[in-house]
Amino acid sequence: MELKDQIKDYQAEISAAEIKDATELEAFRVKFLGSKNILKDLYKELKDAPNEIKKDLGQAINALKLSAEEKFSKGAKKKDFIQLGAKKLDYSRPAEEVALGSRHPLSIIRNEIIEIFSRIGYTVSEGPEIEDDWHNFSALNFPPEHPARDMQDTFFIKKGDNEIALRTHTSSVQVRVMESQEPPIRTISPGRVYRNEAISARAHCFFHQVEGLYIDKNVSFADLKQTLLYFAREMFGEKAQIRLRPSYFPFTEPSAEVDVSCTICNSEGCNVCKYTGWLEILGCGMVDPNVLEASGIDSQKYSGFAFGMGIERIAQLKFRVNDLRMYSENDIRFLDQFKSAY
Ligand code: DAH
Repeated sequence: MELKDQIKDYQAEISAAEIKDATELEAFRVKFLGSKNILKDLYKELKDAPNEIKKDLGQAINALKLSAEEKFSKGAKKKDFIQLGAKKLDYSRPAEEVALGSRHPLSIIRNEIIEIFSRIGYTVSEGPEIEDDWHNFSALNFPPEHPARDMQDTFFIKKGDNEIALRTHTSSVQVRVMESQEPPIRTISPGRVYRNEAISARAHCFFHQVEGLYIDKNVSFADLKQTLLYFAREMFGEKAQIRLRPSYFPFTEPSAEVDVSCTICNSEGCNVCKYTGWLEILGCGMVDPNVLEASGIDSQKYSGFAFGMGIERIAQLKFRVNDLRMYSENDIRFLDQFKSAY
């Protein structure tokens, strides 16, 4: 068939087409306007047409295309055809609920700790998780042969003169803050720490701590005790009591471990507090003068206290989660339970 006649035929077909439903509309679209539509062949044939009629033929094909488009959009405007082949939509139906996530329990507790200390003027400071020997150990007065430096506790990245390791505690941030700031310093440092431990319900190779540091003139042990009592009451309720037991840390002197009265059994004795009425929550002490001096702070002029606590431990007491592994398994059934906790 000659190109001219072919165009005429199609024009007649388009004019005569009666589009009755969405299926027919789609069939029309595919035939005349789709990516493999029949008009494309006409353009191919046009190339071989004699020059003197090329222009007219070209215009005729364009007109054909226009009328196909017109026919299609008329059909598409018919209300029933809006949904091609699909069921009618009920636009008055309420939208599907978007599932909200929940904050991670450790984030909830970390934020609560930050809030409690910010109310008494503490800033938040952070340091790197990959740390050098100086900030993690030496500046904190760890003797060269201290067992905490051992391969069994620490994940070393580089051995040698300037050892690089994953920080084993957030006390490293203390050093960085003291090196870069003048007292008075009042700051807490939340963060992730790493230890080379076999993973079990009670131990993990990473966990989270919050370090606290207060350096000024005339800071005393009484200030430390009052600060910790304030913290315990804000976190565990106004009836909470604390007790301090003498302890040892290389970076503090004197040092203490702090217990809070068992909030689960009101100190009457239960299996969480192992029938002692007390729960250990943190370590603390007066910053050792060696540590102040190592970070360039005059220990004759300034004194200070420090404390460090595990976020998982506080979360365990608040939420009664006894298996540490749950915090990093990302099980939605576990995480969903904290939706209303903030
Ligand atoms: N860094 C200690 C640890 O990881 C916790 C700690 C104890 C921090 C006493 C302190 C402190 O600042 O004074 O177990």
